[in-house]
Formats: sequence, C-alpha cells, structure tokens
Amino acid sequence: MKKDFLSIKDLTRDEVESLLEKALEMKRAGKKYPRSLTGYTLGLLFEKASTRTRVSFESAMYRLGGQTLFLSSRDTQLSRGEPVKDTARVLSRYLDGLSIRTYSQGVVEEMARWADIPVINALTDKYHPCQVLSDLMTVQEKKGRLEGLKIAWVGDGNNMANSWINAARIMGFHLSLACPAGYEPDGDVLSGAGENIRLTPDPKEAVRGADVINTDVWASMGLEKEQEKRIRDFAGFQVNENLVKRAKPDVVVLHCLPAHRGEEIAEEVLEGPRSVVFDQAENKMHLHQALLEQLIREPA
Ligand code: CP
Ligand code: NVA
Repeated sequence: MKKDFLSIKDLTRDEVESLLEKALEMKRAGKKYPRSLTGYTLGLLFEKASTRTRVSFESAMYRLGGQTLFLSSRDTQLSRGEPVKDTARVLSRYLDGLSIRTYSQGVVEEMARWADIPVINALTDKYHPCQVLSDLMTVQEKKGRLEGLKIAWVGDGNNMANSWINAARIMGFHLSLACPAGYEPDGDVLSGAGENIRLTPDPKEAVRGADVINTDVWASMGLEKEQEKRIRDFAGFQVNENLVKRAKPDVVVLHCLPAHRGEEIAEEVLEGPRSVVFDQAENKMHLHQALLEQLIREPA
C-alpha cells in the first residue's frame, strides 16, 4: 500500500531513525549512490514560492536516476477550479509521487486521500515536515545524537514550530519554545504534549543550556500583510549574540531559510561560527533522497 508523508506524525521513531541513517549514508556516498529511482517521476505542485525545497527535491530525484515535473499551480486546471479529487486521480495515472506546497493542510490530505501515489507535504500553513526531518538529520550530524538534547525554538509558533513539536513527541528530546503571547503554536498540536515540551514567553529561558537554537521568519508566506505589526509584537525575540551566549558554548543555530537578517536573527549569528544554516540547507537534498527512495520505490 502507498504511504504518504503529510506530517511528522506519519512516522514512528524507528522510521525517523532509519531515514536519518539512510540520508547520512546517501550524503557520504554522494553521486556514487545507486540510481534506485530510474524510470520514476515525481510531480511538484507548488502554490507558494520555494528555492530550497523545490530544487532539493528535483536534484534528489535526478541523483537517484528519476525525473521531476514542476507544476506551478497557476498553470494547472486547479487554478480554474478543477477539484482536488479529480486532479489527484489524474496525476496518479502519470506520476509515481507528488510533492505539494500549498496553504491548507486539508488540501494535501484530500490529495492524499484520492491519489494512488505517495503524496508528500512540501509545506502548508500548518506543517513543514520535510524541513524538520532534514533538520533532525543536521542535528544528528552535528551532535551525534538526538536523545537527551535541549532544542530551543525562538519566535513564531508557525508551521515549523508545529512540526518540531510533533518531532519532539516522537523522538523524546527536550523542546523549549519561546513565542510572544498570541503567537503560540496551534493548540491541537500542543494538546497532550509531554514533560519534554515546554512553552515560555521568555526567549532567555528557552535557550538556557540549549544544544540547538532554531528560529524562522516572523511572518510566514501568506502573512505578508502582518509584517509590520509582527515586527512590533516580536520585539525581544531576535536570536542575537546576547541570546546565543546563554546556550551551551557548542550550541548550533538553525534557520530553515529564507532569513530576514536584523529581524528574527542577527547578521552576526547567521554568519557566525555557531550557524550551520548552509549545511542544513544542503541536507534537505540528502534527506529528500532517502524519503523518495523509501516512499516511491516498489518493493523488489
Ligand atoms: N526552507 C525552505 O523550505 O525553503 P524554500 O521556501 O526556499 O523551499
Ligand atoms: N514558516 C515559513 C517557512 C518557509 C520555508 C513559511 O511558511 O513561510
């Protein structure tokens, strides 16, 4: 049966661990890794802008011998009102997998329900699970483990924060989130979270003794009109040297990018020795290779 990847909750701890292991193996092998997806095609249906996710999915597919088809939503009949359920059934006849970036999580769920091929969430307003999987790979690579780490999230309780909460529930590391009042992660995502997940309005508390500090833009795609208000509401939530020095001396700083320097993160931190953001961006490609091989390849 086909398997979709719509949220981190679709994976067990063992599945996350084996994907991270596979992605690290593929990174070591580089272009010597076998062309395990020769003859397979991945569709990329994107309703929002993307640099990293689109290009890393495309290069991941090419490196495994497969091909991709980029479908900007405004060029398909979806933009003229063709139902998602018809699109899903038609695309299933042509493609072997479909990666979607859109607004509503409901759309990727509906697509997955009607498609006979694996559907991958390449970002919605609710979740960004592929990003958090590759970020777990980066943490594993830099720290050698996830277990027992303290990971801090500073900023908006957005799609990335929601996915980090799901990851902490499954993997058990400590996650401390500092968000301004009114910008906390979604209640249903936080509901029933264990002792390892803490929410605080104080960034200093969240980063105290942290092994990893993570942030993201204050106004996600689709919320551009709130940008000015958010800059005011997020005062004091910038990841800068003053904040980073409260974490462990060997802390690593993550940002999924694109970054707004001088807003959620200071230039000197983004470009400084604790930042691993470009390794983080690279790892999206290796992780996507592992994910695509796992989801698309038919059992031998
Ligand atoms: N981090 C990330 O998803 O970047 P893009 O929006 O460029 O894909
Ligand atoms: N939270 C951001 C992530 C971009 C990769 C957004 O949704 O715009």
